[in-house]
Amino acid sequence: MLAAAVIGQYSLRTLRPADAAPLALALARQPPWADLGYTAEGLQRYLNKDDAALERWVLADGASVAGVLCLRQPWLRGPFLELLCLLPDYRGQGLGGLLLAELHDRARLSGLANVWATATHSNENALRFYRRQGYEQAGVLPDLILPGVDEILLRRRLRR
Ligand SMILES: CC(C)(COP(=O)(O)OP(=O)(O)OC[C@H]1O[C@@H](n2cnc3c(N)ncnc32)[C@H](O)[C@@H]1OP(=O)(O)O)[C@@H](O)C(=O)NCCC(=O)NCCS
Repeated sequence: MLAAAVIGQYSLRTLRPADAAPLALALARQPPWADLGYTAEGLQRYLNKDDAALERWVLADGASVAGVLCLRQPWLRGPFLELLCLLPDYRGQGLGGLLLAELHDRARLSGLANVWATATHSNENALRFYRRQGYEQAGVLPDLILPGVDEILLRRRLRR
């Protein structure tokens, strides 16, 4: 559903097999993945697995990876943003917002009505970020990843 694009001074391209191991290691070392018990091995398997419904994109800064976005489509009258991470050096510069704007535009062009995401209830930065990008809470998913931990289901309506 997404397509190669220029986002700010970076390029959005599909994830390559060689991206997976360093990305998985970086994700496994930081919240929320570290707190939820994800391992680098498991994340690497996820990034490389054979799954025709999972689009995997990288925001590239030349030869370096600035961020990653995984999108499950078809999902629920719109795609599910299964994984979104800007690596620490690239946060707070508006890149996450630009990435979501690109995703919303592409989904709208495909005639889709929603984009969905989840964030752990304690991930206040992510929840604030998504709210600012027009996402609304659509539900609470108890014990989805870890017992006792709620995931918040978020919905961005593309039609008003
Ligand atoms: C959540 C995340 C994807 C947001 O991406 P980001 O690129 O940092 O987001 P933005 O820069 O667009 O917005 C973040 C904040 O920076 C501010 N900002 C936007 N443009 C800015 C700019 N040019 N300069 C400085 N700050 C800016 C925004 O106002 C925003 O503030 P808010 O958090 O109060 O809404 C990123 O921080 C991240 O990967 N976090 C860790 C993983 C994670 O939690 N993933 C999501 C849930 S699983």
